[in-house]
Amino acid sequence: MRFMTAEPFRIKMIEKVKKTNIEERRQWLREAQYNVFRLKAENVYIDCLTDSGTSAMSNEQWAALMLGDESYAGCKSFYKLEESVQDVFGMPFVQPTHQGRGADFMMANIYCEPGKYALGNMHFDTFRGNAEIIGAHPVDLVIDVGMDASSEYHPFKGNIDLDKMQRFIDEKGAENINVVIITITCNNNGGQPVSMQNIREVSQLADKYHIPFVIDSARMAENAYFIKIREKGYQDKSIKEIIREMFSYCETTVMSSKKDGLVNIGGLFITRKESIYHKANDFAIAHEGFITYGGLAGRDLEALAVGLQEVTDFQYLSYRVKQVEYLGQRLKEKGIPIIEPVGGHGVYVDGLRFFPQIPQYQFPSQRLVVALYEEAGVRAVELGACAFGRKDPATGQDIWPKLDVMRIAISRRVYTDNHMDVIANALDYIYNQRHTYSGMRLVYQGPIISLRHFTAGFELL
Ligand code: F0G
Repeated sequence: MRFMTAEPFRIKMIEKVKKTNIEERRQWLREAQYNVFRLKAENVYIDCLTDSGTSAMSNEQWAALMLGDESYAGCKSFYKLEESVQDVFGMPFVQPTHQGRGADFMMANIYCEPGKYALGNMHFDTFRGNAEIIGAHPVDLVIDVGMDASSEYHPFKGNIDLDKMQRFIDEKGAENINVVIITITCNNNGGQPVSMQNIREVSQLADKYHIPFVIDSARMAENAYFIKIREKGYQDKSIKEIIREMFSYCETTVMSSKKDGLVNIGGLFITRKESIYHKANDFAIAHEGFITYGGLAGRDLEALAVGLQEVTDFQYLSYRVKQVEYLGQRLKEKGIPIIEPVGGHGVYVDGLRFFPQIPQYQFPSQRLVVALYEEAGVRAVELGACAFGRKDPATGQDIWPKLDVMRIAISRRVYTDNHMDVIANALDYIYNQRHTYSGMRLVYQGPIISLRHFTAGFELL
């Protein structure tokens, strides 16, 4: 395979994307109040808003769609999915959901109680939101370097800090902690992986205090790839063996299949405890759909059954992670400040170092998102002052997040390295004139501050 460094697939069908000019894009930005969620997707040249639900499906998956059994109960497609999940995860009970947040809802309602804590490396928004609605307190305990965009190299910046976890248990009492959740890879700090050792040790510590241990597995195959490449003792293991070992340590896992399921919609709630499964079934019936379809069409179940197998292919994962790494490398060469090492599903540009003249309350990373769309029609997303800014409930003071970044999420099997070059060249151009930019003012936000980035309106200063 010495020369076979290109994509492990060829293209059978294409989707046209529109090239636009800068005057048009400025107009659309004004109309969208400088919030790229409010742009029409057809006016985006390269869409890096998210890697969620945006994968290109394979010919095998498209063929499987035609086999979808749309029966309300007991459809054939469910049993195929169940078998595929059992094979990949090594866990017995499978409840499909309409997408990841449906499974998050179940997890929060099954595991969390008002006034108690849910520990994690960094909880994703949709679990956090569901837990907070119940009155529970999600707490992030990622290692310190995980929160430092300019840290030294660390191979597993998604790891939970075991000392912090022990201290938290000592301080609050194990009886006040409902659950420990590790998110693999850790989306909020750069798609950073978690090591097998950390998964094992966190599960042992949780077990010691009889606290259930759960995994948010949206990007579990990418995490397994990093373990194979970076962690001693795993080089000769297959991706599936690594995935099964990761999940052997947890009681339950929730998955947004829109990422490593390689499908456009769907989620999973998977558990090894029958009593938990029965609770999930009832939540499914009330909120998602009957147990064997969970809010999905039979054809979606089919495509997911195939996607879960395809994502465990080492050749695919190697292409996938290396494409993201290639973009990171191109940006690094140009001196653009990014979170290093580059994670699994995107490159995260440090807005605070990119635009040091723009204070956090003037949204430097959002300014960068706007500049990138303006210059090149590339849509990324802010994960910074707007998305994660909070108010202190006691004082009303703004609390700004430590990490303030622009995430360039790369869809799976969708763009070529030429598209990566477009992004790198555009950012280089912006970086060379970075001193000419000033910040933004928030002119509209919705009633729930943690959701404001989806609908916010801004003006340029
Ligand atoms: N967990 C993680 C780690 C996620 O990244 C997401 C979604 C979810 C759960 C929720 O899944 O969207 O299927 O309901 N992340 C997307 C993103 C939206 O852009 O990072 P969902």
